This record gives sequence, structure tokens and C-alpha cells, in this order.
Amino acid sequence: IDAQFAAPRLRGLHALVTSGPTHEPIDPVRYIANRSSGAQGTAIAAALHRLGARVTFVTGPATTPPPPGPAVIRVETAAEMHAAVKAALPADIAVFAAAVADWRIANAASSKMKKGAGRPELSLTQNPDILADIAGMTEGRPSLVVGFAAETDDVLANARAKLARKGCDWIVANDVSPATGIMGGAENAVTLVTSDGAEDWPRASKEAVADRLAHRIAEALARDTA
Ligand code: CTP
Ligand code: CA
Repeated sequence: IDAQFAAPRLRGLHALVTSGPTHEPIDPVRYIANRSSGAQGTAIAAALHRLGARVTFVTGPATTPPPPGPAVIRVETAAEMHAAVKAALPADIAVFAAAVADWRIANAASSKMKKGAGRPELSLTQNPDILADIAGMTEGRPSLVVGFAAETDDVLANARAKLARKGCDWIVANDVSPATGIMGGAENAVTLVTSDGAEDWPRASKEAVADRLAHRIAEALARDTA
């Protein structure tokens, strides 16, 4: 192995990774959520840590246990994730792998809703976009901001639009249509979308995809500081 390749190449850098779903309460015993095991975000945090970065891992209630090494901050809702991300800054690298619920219940009940009280009307309000917020920072923005785009249709077009709309540097796009079996599985097939173009990566384990992404991140930052 090339010594340069084997050496930790993110030493001295701080990487922030969000992961897992968020849970948005309806009442104290019920919630709405996104499907997410947290496996891909966990693998990315582990891979960045192996390359020598100091990693802060902000995770919603995922089924995959958090990786050893990174500092783990557990949150439940999108609002909590947003606050935890801001509190963890500054960071050199930010990877937003979380499946954040786009809406929360505006009129969440503080005590359990009872069936006898009739059919509840849930009023939804949009959650803050954590990725767009951090990518749009004018001061103290991480050097590299990476978002994900989980799509079921028009993956590339949607990913390109997301890159532009959110102001991030890269989008890792994946096709999560049920037929791919990716959602909840051990493998991922992604397209890396940057301002330079789009690259299809072959389907591989989520760990292998994470390793490749971490190495790409190290390469990009080395080019920046060269
Ligand atoms: N994201 C975020 N905060 C949100 C919603 C999404 O940080 N409130 C991040 C995700 O972690 C991901 C990226 O934004 O990195 C894209 O998420 P996605 O759900 O694909 O995009 P949306 O902008 O929410 O659009 P839509 O769900 O309508 O496709
Ligand atoms: Ca969304």
C-alpha cells in the first residue's frame, strides 16, 4: 500500500455527519417519521473517522448503532437536529445523510389523544431545511457541504435541481424505488453529482460507498489546500 494513501488524510479536520430519520411527535405516544436505518450515515461517519477526522455524528432515532469513535449527539426531531448541527459548528466538512421529516405537526398534543374524542385533524408545518441553511452560510460555512438526494423518479434531474436549490457542493443521489431494494438494505448504488458533472458508482456495500466518499472528500480538500 502506498504510504500516502494509508496515512490519515483528514487529521486536524472536523467533520459533521447527520444520519437516521427524525421523529415528529403527534402526541406523547405517536409520531410521524421517514424510513431510514441510518446505515449509510453511520458508515460515512466511521469512514471519515478512519481517515483521521474528528467526527461529530448527529443522529435521529436510527436502528443502526452509532459508530465507535465519533462524538454522538442523539436527537429526535428535525428542529433538534437543526439546533445540534448549529451547535457543533464550525466544521470543515458537513455530510447530511439524515432522512429529515419534511413536516412536523403544528398542533401536537401534550397529552395522549383518545379515540373517543373523535377523528383528529393534524396540521402540518414545514421543517427547516438544515442542509440549505448550512450550505447558505455567509460566514463560517464548512469548506465542503455534501447533501443526499433519495429519489424514486428522475434521479439525476432531481439531484441536479437539489444541488442548485440547496447551494451545497455535492449531492449523493440514490434511487430508492422499492424495486431497487436499497431502502433498508445493506447496499447502495449512488450517483455523485458535483458542479463538474455526474458519476455513477457501482452498487456496493454501504461501507464501500462510504469509504469511496470519504476518500473523495479527502482528495477534494487536499486539492483545496494545495
Ligand atoms: N435535508 C435537511 N433538512 C431537511 C430536509 C432535508 O438537511 N429539512 C437534507 C437531507 O439530509 C439530504 C438533502 O437535504 O441531504 C435532501 O433531502 P431530500 O429529502 O432528498 O430533499 P428535499 O429538499 O427535502 O426535497 P423532497 O423531499 O421534496 O425531494
Ligand atoms: Ca425531504
